[in-house]
Amino acid sequence: MPSTRLLRTVALQACLLLMYICLLQAIELQLHEQQLQQQLLDEQLRLHQQQQLLKQQREQQLQQRRYSSTTSTRKPYIIPQGLSLPQRGVYPEKCLREVPAVFFQYDKELKIVGNSTTNPYFNVIEVCCKGWRRYEYDWSRCVPDCGERCRENGFCLPGGRCQCFSDFVLNYRNECVPTCPLGCPHGQCYLNGTCRCERGYELDGSKRFCQPQCNTTCGHNEVCLEPGKCVCAEGYARGLRESNALGCQPMCIPDCGYGHCVAPNQCECFPGYQKRMNRSSCEINCYMRCENGFCANQTTCVCQNGYRYDHNTTSCLPDCGDDCRNGVCVSPGNCRCFNGYVRNRERCDAVCDRGCGFYGRCIAPNVCGCAIVAGAEESYQRCENGYCNAEGHCRCLEGKTRFIDKCMSPDTVTTYASINPLRVNASLMHEFQLLLGRHFILGSPGMLEENRWWD
Ligand SMILES: *[C@@H]1O[C@H](CO)[C@@H](O)[C@H](O)[C@H]1NC(C)=O
Ligand SMILES: *[C@@H]1O[C@H](CO)[C@@H](O)[C@H](O)[C@H]1NC(C)=O
Ligand SMILES: *[C@@H]1O[C@H](CO)[C@@H](O)[C@H](O)[C@H]1NC(C)=O
Ligand SMILES: *[C@@H]1O[C@H](CO)[C@@H](O)[C@H](O)[C@H]1NC(C)=O
Ligand SMILES: *[C@@H]1O[C@H](CO)[C@@H](O)[C@H](O)[C@H]1NC(C)=O
Ligand SMILES: *[C@@H]1O[C@H](CO)[C@@H](O)[C@H](O)[C@H]1NC(C)=O
Ligand SMILES: *[C@@H]1O[C@H](CO)[C@@H](O)[C@H](O)[C@H]1NC(C)=O
Repeated sequence: MPSTRLLRTVALQACLLLMYICLLQAIELQLHEQQLQQQLLDEQLRLHQQQQLLKQQREQQLQQRRYSSTTSTRKPYIIPQGLSLPQRGVYPEKCLREVPAVFFQYDKELKIVGNSTTNPYFNVIEVCCKGWRRYEYDWSRCVPDCGERCRENGFCLPGGRCQCFSDFVLNYRNECVPTCPLGCPHGQCYLNGTCRCERGYELDGSKRFCQPQCNTTCGHNEVCLEPGKCVCAEGYARGLRESNALGCQPMCIPDCGYGHCVAPNQCECFPGYQKRMNRSSCEINCYMRCENGFCANQTTCVCQNGYRYDHNTTSCLPDCGDDCRNGVCVSPGNCRCFNGYVRNRERCDAVCDRGCGFYGRCIAPNVCGCAIVAGAEESYQRCENGYCNAEGHCRCLEGKTRFIDKCMSPDTVTTYASINPLRVNASLMHEFQLLLGRHFILGSPGMLEENRWWD
């Protein structure tokens, strides 16, 4: 009897154990299934994103092809940041502009006579009109100019309008940013394709991108560019301490002259003053061109910072101080050296290919100045294509002969002298005076002996 009871309990327990094992297995199976499902979901998401990216790329390529099909043979093979491609049927007329002829001077001795019909100090050149810029891959064409805006993930269209690629959207900084499910800057994408912004940011009205939160409302002409921080909008700036209370004020470059700056680069003239065509400054009516400045009265052109008045062009030209005598000042503080000169800090120094020796100094391209004592440039003996010896005299390399102030092949001397009589006379006079000066200073009696023009 007890054995049957024992047997029954054992059987019962075995049965319970079996059920328990079954249950465990079922749970495990379910867990596994859930994992599989999760993996499947992840995989689907990945695929979806991949597809989106592919679609994106295809569309970009398509657009690029469409836009670049108008550039006949020269197709751009690198797409620059911020696509600005020439477009079918859009050929902006080039604008003509007069620029100071001096900007075209590359040789110190060769002054440029401008080809403007109204003023020989100006050259007429073709430029891209306002709102357009040169196309990197075909300099003869102009493409829309969006400036700093629209630099990536979009097209710059005429009028400076920015068109983002699909799945990108123009945000508060005028940048094309991705939208979910590709991503959302300053936020994270949910599976259902919406964006959750990080702390300090909130969704914009269109619910497509995150913009910073400025919980104190920004002032007049201010925008919220960072969480909790209002800054002046584009084209506006805060004045110095005294005018700081005025907040963000519009900036006008150049200066308005006799007028108020009422909006970025927009002047409103005081009564009695006017703007010239295509200029923004307010001035008095005057005969001067006064570019980069404004006419204060009939005889005075007030220059912008960084510019200096030039009588020839009656305009303000870029100022590089007095250090740009051997070059052209092409923009404020930016001196472009003439041929034969190299930049040495602010100055342009002449280059003498073979050097000038210890007693000489390079005073012009391949012209040494010889003297034992340093002095003004005029006190040096000129020595073109030669070098200076220990007495401070010009010497020529072997095979060359010295003719007054330059070294040349013996057989070219006569031709040179007959072609350049004026120059020869001038250098002869210079050399003669130099010699006289030296002999008075040094008190040397050897005048006749020294008086050899060439040796
Ligand atoms: C004037 O000269 C500039 C510089 O040499 C040149 O680029 C331009 O085409 C010329 N303009 C005219 C109308 O000849
Ligand atoms: C998307 O999912 C998030 C989190 O699950 C939820 O808060 C939000 O309301 C959903 N949005 C839509 C449009 O379904
Ligand atoms: C403004 O936002 C900042 C963080 O962005 C927070 O610390 C501060 O408490 C907020 N102020 C108010 C008045 O809501
Ligand atoms: C003024 O600008 C227009 C186009 O904006 C141009 O056609 C015209 O030649 C310019 N006038 C002067 C004097 O530069
Ligand atoms: C023109 O203005 C300048 C500077 O404002 C002044 O020095 C000059 O005397 C004025 N000339 C005339 C004729 O008013
Ligand atoms: C003005 O033009 C003359 C003649 O072209 C030239 O010799 C002179 O250097 C120029 N002056 C300036 C300041 O450029
Ligand atoms: C050379 O120059 C001097 C002074 O400059 C002048 O008197 C003389 O006539 C000139 N000679 C010739 C040949 O040009």
